[in-house]
Amino acid sequence: MARKTRGISRRAFVKSAVAIGGAAAVSACLDREGNPDVPSGPDDLSSYPTRQHAWNDSLMTSDVGNVMAPKHHLLLPFNYTGDTPTPDERETVEKTLQSLEHAYERSHNGLLFTMSYSPAYFDRFDESLPDSVDLPHPKALSSFEEPELEDYDAIIHLASDYGHVVLAAEEAIMGKQDTLNGHEMAASFEGTFEKAERRTGFVGEGIPAANQDVDGIPDGDPVPEDSPLFMGFMSGFSDNQATEDRVTIQDGPFAGGTTQHVSRIRLRLDDWYVEQNREERVAEMFCPFHAEEGLVEGAGHNLGTDSQVDGECADRIDEDARTYGRIGHSQKMASVRENGKPIILRRDFDSTDGGEAGVHFVSLHRGIGDFEKTREAMNGEKQVKESPAIKQKVNNGILEYMFVKHRANYLLPPRAHRALPTPAP
Ligand code: HEM
Repeated sequence: MARKTRGISRRAFVKSAVAIGGAAAVSACLDREGNPDVPSGPDDLSSYPTRQHAWNDSLMTSDVGNVMAPKHHLLLPFNYTGDTPTPDERETVEKTLQSLEHAYERSHNGLLFTMSYSPAYFDRFDESLPDSVDLPHPKALSSFEEPELEDYDAIIHLASDYGHVVLAAEEAIMGKQDTLNGHEMAASFEGTFEKAERRTGFVGEGIPAANQDVDGIPDGDPVPEDSPLFMGFMSGFSDNQATEDRVTIQDGPFAGGTTQHVSRIRLRLDDWYVEQNREERVAEMFCPFHAEEGLVEGAGHNLGTDSQVDGECADRIDEDARTYGRIGHSQKMASVRENGKPIILRRDFDSTDGGEAGVHFVSLHRGIGDFEKTREAMNGEKQVKESPAIKQKVNNGILEYMFVKHRANYLLPPRAHRALPTPAP
């Protein structure tokens, strides 16, 4: 791997501290972030939304109206240490989560988090999940991937614009510090959950550029400074996301919850940046029409709140496969819309875990079926069959550059049932 010598910027420093974790990282990160006053949450949490995943109202909105993801992320998968959860353990977990909510305001300036549970977790109970919950075990979603199919019991997703906030929250959850932002922790996960792993990452203009010295990204600093993600383009335009309502479970005991897919994707961007020119990248990320018309400037900030890959683009896909010999990622995805919008809400972020460029692809949907249907459209099977230029992974959106290493599915319950739920709470 090429190592470049350059002074370590604040953005790169905070990213590395989040990746390392631990008490020393918390204080180093706090110093680098200028010891900001991070607002606390209220004493009375009764005004908090029933949906754990209702983050959008607490996130920043860009000048043009896009909901902006928090900058720093931590995913902590856990295994439950007991046999079947007891009321005491449930109380301990709930008290831990409430302590986080008292400690930090529920916003990008404070802390946003969700806690969710896997099919493997629910398998320990005699009862089954209700029909209103679509939560199969994870599986491979293309013929050319062999991901590790995870069976951790639960996962917590912590997110904040401050690296030290997600790190300190992790320490407090694990019982390594008794106070958080000046508030006492009423409990911790110690003795109930074992942390199985830690996955870290970031999203936001400038952060990928500052952290591109990793495997999977070619020399020459190709990741542009204005890009919030490694591949050089913005993602998650507000009009190209499912609404929080669309992904919320409507009926049954888990109404107000959602389902979550968490995959770990490795990126190999040599060919993306070296073999391809910008026009080809635009064609493969968006669609050939966008490339031909020069619709995307820079990372795509000029597009506003909509990638402008519309139904017409989606309908033209067979013709584009024949005419241009390549089809776009968004173009394929746009075929799975309902009432003009996608059916999944993406909350993915980039990562340099293990010294490799990657994506932790976190998405929310009413049922896992909605994710599978969307992901299967990404395979472009019809065009692979009908157009000789379109191969399983080549000229087929961004599939050539991404490698799915892990997949996991979770039920993300409403707040009321977020602590060790039974299948019939
Ligand atoms: C390396 C990983 C990925 C990157 C860098 C990426 C990037 C992008 C970008 C730049 C767009 C266009 C802008 C936008 O609409 O937000 C987009 C659209 C989209 N992507 Fe991805 N994506 C990735 C993986 C995935 C995966 C695994 C899925 C799920 C199956 C997915 C689902 C979607 C959907 C649903 C859209 C919007 C389609 C529409 O407008 O109807 N993406 N992606």
